[in-house]
Amino acid sequence: MKVTVIGAGNVGATCANVVAHKELANEVVLLDIKDGVAEGKALDMWQTAPINLYDSRVKGVTNDYAATAGSDVVVITSGLPRKPGMSRDDLIATNAGIVKSVTENVIEYSPNAIIIVVSNPLDVMTYCAFLTAKIDSKRVFGMAGILDTARYRAFLAEALDVSPKDIQAVLMGGHGDTMVPLPRYTTVAGIPVTEMIEESELDAIVERTKKGGGELVNLMGTSAWYAPGAAAAQMVEAIVRDQKRIFPCCAWLTGEYGMSDIYLGVPVQLGSKGIEKIIELDLNNEEKTLLENSAVHVREVMEVLDKMELVK
Ligand code: NAI
Ligand code: 2OP
Repeated sequence: MKVTVIGAGNVGATCANVVAHKELANEVVLLDIKDGVAEGKALDMWQTAPINLYDSRVKGVTNDYAATAGSDVVVITSGLPRKPGMSRDDLIATNAGIVKSVTENVIEYSPNAIIIVVSNPLDVMTYCAFLTAKIDSKRVFGMAGILDTARYRAFLAEALDVSPKDIQAVLMGGHGDTMVPLPRYTTVAGIPVTEMIEESELDAIVERTKKGGGELVNLMGTSAWYAPGAAAAQMVEAIVRDQKRIFPCCAWLTGEYGMSDIYLGVPVQLGSKGIEKIIELDLNNEEKTLLENSAVHVREVMEVLDKMELVK
């Protein structure tokens, strides 16, 4: 297996490190546009192999796509992160150009790769990669739901003083303040979460989750990387190990949930073919409305990309 991570910044380097550490690929390539950064980080990672006891080879390159040739999975993290006061959508002008040019190179050298997009604004950058790559949408999807659900699960584990391992949840919609955590599909070791926590406390956790990325931007002056990198690596793992795991991912809808021609966070089954199934939940009216509102927002940003006429 060969996995390439584009962008050796905070998220990309963290993702590559987890992929190597878990031996998800024998070859891990880290590529960045900045001279020497990917080489340096890859060398540093490789020097953890004798300590952390893994065999994955990590190689860093500066914009050399030949080194990425034949990758099975490519994770795209290149692009600007947001600063305090910025929304993810503010990044579109810069990041669309980056994601487009990166995807062209990725597809030229790895025509059979599965592409996982991480760059923001996530749903629309995934759309941008899909339009550019011109491959089956089952092979182009985005990482957001695993991260957003992880935040929700972590907040719940803390509030309930239970292991985060025991919290299962579904969260849908776009990667932004309109995301839709679903308490009705949240359990603690199989017990409905609503039986374990007061409604007001659960509501507060749902609200904190929606703004979970912004909370970290305000603390650090840039966006998060440990959980985003680990979340992208978990998607890589499901693919390279053909695990058929069910995760919320940003997927191209073709009629599911009554929507088409949109990238939106929904539960999917991930395996060696990429998105092997989109799972349709029987949402109630309130949940449907929240999801539709989120879709309206994502479509607005998709239209901004369309109007840029960058990718056709
Ligand atoms: P960062 O600034 O630490 O790293 C970005 C890297 O991309 C830099 O090293 C930069 O040199 C590189 N880059 C820029 N243009 C490039 C190009 N054309 N080719 C190759 N590399 C290029 O940023 P960070 O924190 O790693 O975030 C990366 C992206 O991921 C941002 O857009 C951020 O908003 C997004 N993000 C998305 C999340 C999600 O849940 N989907 C979570 C966290 C971040
Ligand atoms: C996050 O949610 C900024 O999308 C990034 O951390």
